[in-house]
Amino acid sequence: MQVIGAYRAHTNIALIKYWGKRHQVLHLPVTNSLSLTLEALYTDTAVEFDSSGMGSGDVFYLNGERQSASETEAVSRFVDLFRELAGNDYPVRVDSVNHVPTAAGLASSASAFAALACACDQALGLGLSPEQLSVLARRGSGSASRSLFAGFAEWDAGQGDDSNSSYAHSIDPADWDIGMLIVVVNAKKKKVSSRQGMQHTVETSPFYALWPQEVARDLDLIRPAIQGRDIQTIGQVAEHNAMKMHATMLASNPSFNFFEGDSLLVMDLVQQMRADGLDAYYTMDAGPNVKIICPYSQIPAIKTYLEPHFHADQLIASRPGSAPTPIDPETVRGMLYD
Ligand code: PMV
Repeated sequence: MQVIGAYRAHTNIALIKYWGKRHQVLHLPVTNSLSLTLEALYTDTAVEFDSSGMGSGDVFYLNGERQSASETEAVSRFVDLFRELAGNDYPVRVDSVNHVPTAAGLASSASAFAALACACDQALGLGLSPEQLSVLARRGSGSASRSLFAGFAEWDAGQGDDSNSSYAHSIDPADWDIGMLIVVVNAKKKKVSSRQGMQHTVETSPFYALWPQEVARDLDLIRPAIQGRDIQTIGQVAEHNAMKMHATMLASNPSFNFFEGDSLLVMDLVQQMRADGLDAYYTMDAGPNVKIICPYSQIPAIKTYLEPHFHADQLIASRPGSAPTPIDPETVRGMLYD
């Protein structure tokens, strides 16, 4: 049996956010969510299972650094889902290279778990469908369920406690003039994880009761706008949805938020761009970075507003991304150990 697998998966940014779980362990969400997969931000992951029965425990390297016992434990529990399906207990070595500032609110966990799911599937010869892989990727991190698909993807909440009913599907390949400009306001690890943040919000925010109905309404507005390639409606709905999510956090008790001074500056600049006729809209996740949704062709014009305030390496432009693709394991390992 082949025991090596390697995949590249791209991250995704939600236009209609996933915010709140109905099942903590299975990562079953309260609502559907909808995202755009991005070409520029991705994770490359190689796995090697040791079928000799002689190896010791699992090991996990991220960007060439051996990870702690607790980080490795999280990866091991995730890989267990695949070992159970394959009916073996082979120890694994996982090598991952993140082409995303880790934990900076740029959804690195989404590309990471999608790449790991695909690499495990390949190595263990499971032959799972994208939908089955989406279910499994979700167990690592909810948003990872959407990174199995190119372009626009919608993650269905599913029914009750049925894990297999909650997965994403592609709704549009986004092979038209749309993109994102990510403004990296602060690439440091965020202070509150999305997991903690959403749980605290569900438990303490009086505004959370409004969230499911707002998501349903926003999805009804954005789906036809995507089909019609109507970037103005897509942008308006996404911007409003993101700000409603952040409003639920502001109303939690004790309150918390992810806004930094520069996040607010970018939002002001986007409003100025719009007043000047550009189709630019902002969204933010569980971190201070701002993502600008716009026609890809307008990115050079949009950058001119940001360049006086930010370094070139804080501005990451991306076209829509593809579904995960197999890669040569040596592209991961060679890069790290040459
Ligand atoms: O997948 P998680 O557990 O990191 O949660 C992601 C939550 C948001 O990024 C804020 C929204 C989303 O839908 O990606």
